Amino acid sequence: MKKIATTTLLLAFFFAFSQQKTIDQKIDALLKQMTLEEKIGQLNQYSGDNAATGPITIHLNKINEIKNGQLGSMLNILGAKYTRQYQELAMQSRLKIPLLFGQDVIHGYKTTFPIPLAEAASWDLPEIEQSCRIAAIEASASGIHWTFAPMVDIVRDPRWGRVMEGAGEDTYLGSKIAYARVKGFQGKKLGDLNSVMACAKHFAGYGAAVGGRDYNSVDMSERMLWETYLPPFKAAIDAGAATLMNSFNDLNGIPASGNNYLIRDILKGKWNFKGFVVSDWGSIGEMINHGYVKDSKEAAIAAIIAGTDMDMESNSYRNNLAQLVKEKKINVSLIDEAVKRILRKKFELGLFDDPFRYCNSEREKDALNNPEHAKIARKIASKSIVLLKNEQHILPLSKNIKTIAFIGPMVKLKRANHGFWAIDLKDVDSTYIVSQWEGLEKKVGKNTQLLYAKGCGIEDESKADFQEAIDVANQADVVILSIGERWNMSGEAKSKSNIHLSEVQENLIKELQKTGKPIVILINAGRPLIFNWTADTMPTIVYTWWLGSEAGNAIADVLFGDYNPSGKLPMSFPREEGQIPIYYNHFNTGRPAQNETNTNYVSAYIDLPNSPKFPFGFGLSYTTFQYADLKLSKQKMKNDESIEVSLTIKNTGKFAGEEVVQLYLRDKVGSVVRPILELKDFKKINLEVGETKTIKFTIDNQKLSFYNSKLEFNSEPGDFDLMIGSSSTDIRLRDNFELIN
Ligand code: GLC
Repeated sequence: MKKIATTTLLLAFFFAFSQQKTIDQKIDALLKQMTLEEKIGQLNQYSGDNAATGPITIHLNKINEIKNGQLGSMLNILGAKYTRQYQELAMQSRLKIPLLFGQDVIHGYKTTFPIPLAEAASWDLPEIEQSCRIAAIEASASGIHWTFAPMVDIVRDPRWGRVMEGAGEDTYLGSKIAYARVKGFQGKKLGDLNSVMACAKHFAGYGAAVGGRDYNSVDMSERMLWETYLPPFKAAIDAGAATLMNSFNDLNGIPASGNNYLIRDILKGKWNFKGFVVSDWGSIGEMINHGYVKDSKEAAIAAIIAGTDMDMESNSYRNNLAQLVKEKKINVSLIDEAVKRILRKKFELGLFDDPFRYCNSEREKDALNNPEHAKIARKIASKSIVLLKNEQHILPLSKNIKTIAFIGPMVKLKRANHGFWAIDLKDVDSTYIVSQWEGLEKKVGKNTQLLYAKGCGIEDESKADFQEAIDVANQADVVILSIGERWNMSGEAKSKSNIHLSEVQENLIKELQKTGKPIVILINAGRPLIFNWTADTMPTIVYTWWLGSEAGNAIADVLFGDYNPSGKLPMSFPREEGQIPIYYNHFNTGRPAQNETNTNYVSAYIDLPNSPKFPFGFGLSYTTFQYADLKLSKQKMKNDESIEVSLTIKNTGKFAGEEVVQLYLRDKVGSVVRPILELKDFKKINLEVGETKTIKFTIDNQKLSFYNSKLEFNSEPGDFDLMIGSSSTDIRLRDNFELIN
């Protein structure tokens, strides 16, 4: 039996190697036929004329360039029909090299899932992978080969608008989610019809923009870069990410698009990355604005030498590379390397065998109207909701309530629920998007009277609609108030210096509070907002982010207890902007603040506590969980050993529910200072009422290792605190162990 298995394995390996050898041979053969212009064409990417996700650059003879084989890829071309039209043009070129179609399929294509930061709050890796799988099925059926996702930028600054697009502040959670998202997008292997290439972005450090201001400079130690910001990219590459995208920012003085250290040394060197790197929109040309290069020619040199393979929309490669080769300012081998990386992906996607294999209108129609997709979207949307307060146990609401007043500017919105980076398909109406009002209507049916009032706007300070809201509230048994920021107040180029809930909305809450009615507050946002008075005063608060196509159903499921909320915050919520950057895994300093009152000669503000309003990993449930029986298999371990950790969790409340059990470690002493605690593992489990489960974790050397001042990734002997918590501040069980030589 064993002999057969070995033979089979050898044959499979030989076939794969011969297959790979075939692709390499095909690439080399094709490269030999290509003119310099055709090679440079492969490094060129344009956007479609009817959509732009950056400063507009009109290309007058795009069609001819495609016919002449001088374009390698397009973005913002949607649909089997339109991608086919452009592919047909490419097939008129001399060598018939197919176009790659890329798109920002960030959280769904037609079926839209919660914004990525909301999904991160689910801490549910299989569900997150599943949502990317559905996105890939729908996008690939619409002619898309490549999504510019996942965005894996770690971010500790909610002023930055793109916080909505990632997985929050923690490197461990962010790395796990990056891995899951790449697996979801790329499926079993590239070339499967339901798969799209992933693109881990933005490489690197983009989330650490000074002041939280988009596109701003980033300056950090190499140790911080390796310890905090690079691991999610490595996780994405370990998951097989086909591509990466440059970030716009300069990093330690060198723009990412021309950064040899990032691309040549780390990505293509140390990490041996075999995919290709696309610039961000115009980012190669923007090195002129950075003052890093004098002109477009120098920009092209800097980028191609650094290893950026494809130029999105800046024309730097198109306009300069041929001349630079002729002037012997760059070696054609640099262009050949980039072309080969791009051609390899086109072969792997099967586009040379059939350039139209993703442009099938029948498949598109089926994929975009599959009711199963909505069910999956509804489930992860429910899991992304975070219950921040439920002091009087108003929630879950009874289905026998006679009258509910559903008030607020978000209640009847449709498209807004998609949040930023959603795809507004022109020829698809928004009836499939379930508004919050529709979700509640469907949930309560005829049993309950639903009253509506807008109450207020989002930005305008008018109180003109307050009275109507007060009137409907007075007629109701319960008030649900849905407020927050506008959906496009977060996203690209949407940084905000003030992230407070608008004054008019807090004033409306104060007026409604006077009615004495029980009030449930829903906060819709793409970032952590600041709402201190509401958080201190109102007993029931639910963070609903932007939940996608099934928002209304998911919110109704949670409000009425058909889903017991399990979301946990992937970011710290500041009390004031003055605390930012704020994150849980900070260093202790030489004068740690021991409490929130004594600020004398300690690292503290004299006007505000250091702690966040709501901490990383926080989220309530309708039930309660008891943590007990923490056991470690040993109290001392060598770095070639591991410690088995076990504990029990019991559902001690009245509702079945899910809990995210979080394992944190603290390395007490290191050759560089170490965080006061760091997330090193977690498990999301479901428990029926009264049910107890045993949870197991393994502590291995990897979990104890960090980058020292020489950038060596090692563990160091010494004492460790182990904490098991329901959040980063709600530690339920503690123990300690020692790492010995
Ligand atoms: C945008 C974004 C990037 C996106 C690209 C294409 O400027 O920075 O994330 O993928 O351009 O739309």
